Amino acid sequence: MFIVAINGSPNPTGNTAYLLRTALDEVSKGGGEGYFLQVSDVMSKLKIPYCLACTNPCEGKCYRGTELEESYNLLRRCDGLIIGSPVYFCTVSAQLKSFWDKSRVLRKEKALINVVGGALAVGAARFGGQETTIRAMQDIMLCQGMTVIGDGYVEDDAGHQGACAQRQASDDQNGITRSRILARRVMEVARATMELRAHRTQGK
Ligand SMILES: Cc1cc2nc3c(=O)[nH]c(=O)nc-3n(C[C@H](O)[C@H](O)[C@H](O)COP(=O)(O)O)c2cc1C
Repeated sequence: MFIVAINGSPNPTGNTAYLLRTALDEVSKGGGEGYFLQVSDVMSKLKIPYCLACTNPCEGKCYRGTELEESYNLLRRCDGLIIGSPVYFCTVSAQLKSFWDKSRVLRKEKALINVVGGALAVGAARFGGQETTIRAMQDIMLCQGMTVIGDGYVEDDAGHQGACAQRQASDDQNGITRSRILARRVMEVARATMELRAHRTQGK
């Protein structure tokens, strides 16, 4: 199982990164291969950081030959995604939104249909909009045809929307535990749905 963890925070070693790396640790414990994708590094190298809707349908012209194209290639072959964002005004960071706004080609290709996705969010406040931020990430995943899961696991409990945490994430034991459960669930569902992603290698 190849699982990509997408860090929507501009901070590559911050709270969101900490929980995503925790989730990736769980992925490797479960025998999967993980990859940590720092979205801000990719987006900051682009000449045009936001989608300008220059063509319809999107031809991917603005990121040809860039790291964003390489990132999308990783997504084309992943079995699961764990997307993390800091809570910014109760929703996702601008970098993460822009990363997905530019991904319309993947949608056209149906490249992410049946890829399994879970989300985690970290805020400064205990109840600072973590769940609305997770919902924003889930909506994006649904828009790509992905299979969205929460942080429920049969050997734990039914969970909720995803892993919510408060800064400092390294001190938030519940956030850490829920991130691990989220990763296990992504792996479990990704394993069980491999055939549903066969269209990607069969040119459909
Ligand atoms: C622009 C901006 C907006 C923010 N909005 C919120 C918010 O609505 N709710 C909240 O709890 N924290 C908010 N925060 C705090 C961050 O979510 C928090 O510091 C988070 O842990 C940062 O994660 P990181 O270390 O991965 O970057 C905001 C921070 C910034 C920079």
